[in-house]
Amino acid sequence: MDPLNTIMLQDNAMGVRAAADMLRRGGLVAFPTETVYGLGADAANAVAVAAIYAAKSRPTLNPLIIHVADLSAAQQYGVFDDISLKLAAAFWPGPLSLVVPLRGDSGLAPAVSAGADTVAIRVPANPVAQALLKSFDSALAAPSANMSGQVSPTCAAHVMQGLSGRIDAVLDGGNCIVGLESTIVRATPNGVALLRAGGASVEDIAAVTGADLGAATPEKTRRSPGLMASHYAPRMAVHLNVKRPRDGHLWLGFGPHCENADLNLSPEGNLSEAAANLFAYLRILDAKAGKTAIDVAPIPVSGLGLAIADRLRRAAAPRP
Ligand code: TXA
Ligand code: MG
Repeated sequence: MDPLNTIMLQDNAMGVRAAADMLRRGGLVAFPTETVYGLGADAANAVAVAAIYAAKSRPTLNPLIIHVADLSAAQQYGVFDDISLKLAAAFWPGPLSLVVPLRGDSGLAPAVSAGADTVAIRVPANPVAQALLKSFDSALAAPSANMSGQVSPTCAAHVMQGLSGRIDAVLDGGNCIVGLESTIVRATPNGVALLRAGGASVEDIAAVTGADLGAATPEKTRRSPGLMASHYAPRMAVHLNVKRPRDGHLWLGFGPHCENADLNLSPEGNLSEAAANLFAYLRILDAKAGKTAIDVAPIPVSGLGLAIADRLRRAAAPRP
């Protein structure tokens, strides 16, 4: 692959228009969402979708989420049952992706859903993402804008670190306020299946559907095809639930009882703040010289803590 000259676009009307033009020509443009930055391509253009997989070195069996401006656009691509409609009404725009049956006339490139008969759909709330989707006026396929297996990007500089020279542009919309990828669910005859924990909590989802997602544990949420045990892998080893860090290790704290932490995800113990800081702090610690491992303080596994625990567990997993 010849290196591309990856350009940075500002989040103003001119930048958004330039991004939409590049996407219409089949280009790859990373853009901000409230969860993480996505690597966007025209979801109807098979060549552009193939280029996403190549740029990220992503296994082609791992399907992509499509991003649209609203529910009515989503219904051009997927079939929504009552539960999916209820979830869309409650959470869109926002950090929830819905897996629904793919419409026969969707016009999506088959590689978007990796040949499956379902499609994952998201309506992001981030205003820059919304402006881009309105300007592009069609579905954007967008996985997280990182090399496959690496930590997801929560600002434009992170995208550049991983993908500079491999994509056409990054639309810079500042920091992602949620900081963890979307929650992925699928309506089933028995309720709602959690495919990936994420920025929408299972408690909030259960409250909307009345379906029991409460028993969800990090172990039960590994059902999306792309969810390998080792993912989000920093260079250093990662150890979880560490109350007293070892000599030579870095300590990633949470809550008020971690005075000596190298960084603290949330000194007040706020899970939303911890989620927003998680990926950036893992990157900062991983870049420190002379250290061998990152020890992570205990973090409660309720609300956004479920998704934080899921990402940390995969950061800590043995590498392939
Ligand atoms: O917040 C997010 O979801 C971000 C932003 C950019 O939208 N996107 C994201 O995409 O995290 P990615 O590709 O890194 O993760 C998408 C996950 C993968 O685990 C994939 O297997 C799953 O969604 N997925 C996609 N389509 C699916 C489908 N039809 N059925 C089940 N899982 C699906
Ligand atoms: Mg990803």
